[in-house]
Amino acid sequence: MSNSALPRRVVVTGATGKLGRAVVAHLRAVGVDVLAVDRAGGRDPRDVNGEFLLVDLTDYGQVVEAFTGGADEHAGDVDAVVHLAAVPAPGLMSNAATFANNSAATYNVFAAARAAGIKRVVWASSETVLGLPFDNPPPYAPVDEEYAPRPESTYSLNKALEEEMARHFCRWDPELVMVGLRFSNVMDVEDYAPFPSFDADPQLRRWNLWGYIDARDGAQAVERALAHDQPGADVFVIANADTVMSRSSASLMAEVYPGVEIRKELGEHETLLSIDKARRVLGYEPQHSWRDHVDVL
Ligand SMILES: NC(=O)c1ccc[n+]([C@@H]2O[C@H](COP(=O)([O-])OP(=O)(O)OC[C@H]3O[C@@H](n4cnc5c(N)ncnc54)[C@H](O)[C@@H]3O)[C@@H](O)[C@H]2O)c1
Repeated sequence: MSNSALPRRVVVTGATGKLGRAVVAHLRAVGVDVLAVDRAGGRDPRDVNGEFLLVDLTDYGQVVEAFTGGADEHAGDVDAVVHLAAVPAPGLMSNAATFANNSAATYNVFAAARAAGIKRVVWASSETVLGLPFDNPPPYAPVDEEYAPRPESTYSLNKALEEEMARHFCRWDPELVMVGLRFSNVMDVEDYAPFPSFDADPQLRRWNLWGYIDARDGAQAVERALAHDQPGADVFVIANADTVMSRSSASLMAEVYPGVEIRKELGEHETLLSIDKARRVLGYEPQHSWRDHVDVL
């Protein structure tokens, strides 16, 4: 594990989104000075409750202003960027619109960080690059970072290209640290109510091997990634330690993906989206489970 101190001032993009709200709250709680940016919201205290700047990331000039302290009343050297803004799934907008927004936003964030001399970038990749929705079965389970991306949608194709883009930005700057977090399906506590019903149909959530990520654990992963100080680009699967199911992980694989090699002795509800690398390298350790919440919902 290679960790150093957290950066002092951090720009978080996508700050009023589902994951962004949790990340901004978490980073502020651990003492990071956060400039929250998004193209939407920000006035409602439930969004971000602190310093906020409306930015359309597809406009490079706006991104440069945000990263260089150039926007009025938002001065201050930025030490790191957490880039979460995106159209967050396939099928929400047309493929072309999803690609145009997400690729431009991410290029501008990576390029503006380089122009501003920012040496740490953490960004949201996605579990989708692992081959979701697994109409073609995974190569083995638990899935991990050891096989090449298998995007099956335009949204995911863009995430795979972002990972490739990060490798080249790091090749151009040997001091740069870029961490891509391949988040599973993001959940707030309110989302856990239907989880017990998933068990009736193992096909319902097979598309991501029954994985999920509690937004608060996602925020913890971002904090860990910001403290990572190993130059170069790296990617990590970020999921919770368990599945969304009450049935065992081994029985789910045997029923739904009978031909797939199981590479380890699985715990009863062990995640099939491996978080071993994130645990080992980043020190990530999920603190939450839907199982702690369903009785109280
Ligand atoms: N939600 C999931 O299950 C999931 C799973 C894996 C990865 N991710 C990734 O995590 C990140 C956050 O997802 P989320 O669930 O919080 O999504 P969200 O839609 O709740 O938040 C995304 C935010 O990005 C902002 N945004 C989009 N384009 C922008 C632009 N051009 N300029 C400025 N702001 C822009 C939106 O206004 C929104 O507030 C995304 O990159 C997404 O692809 C999400």
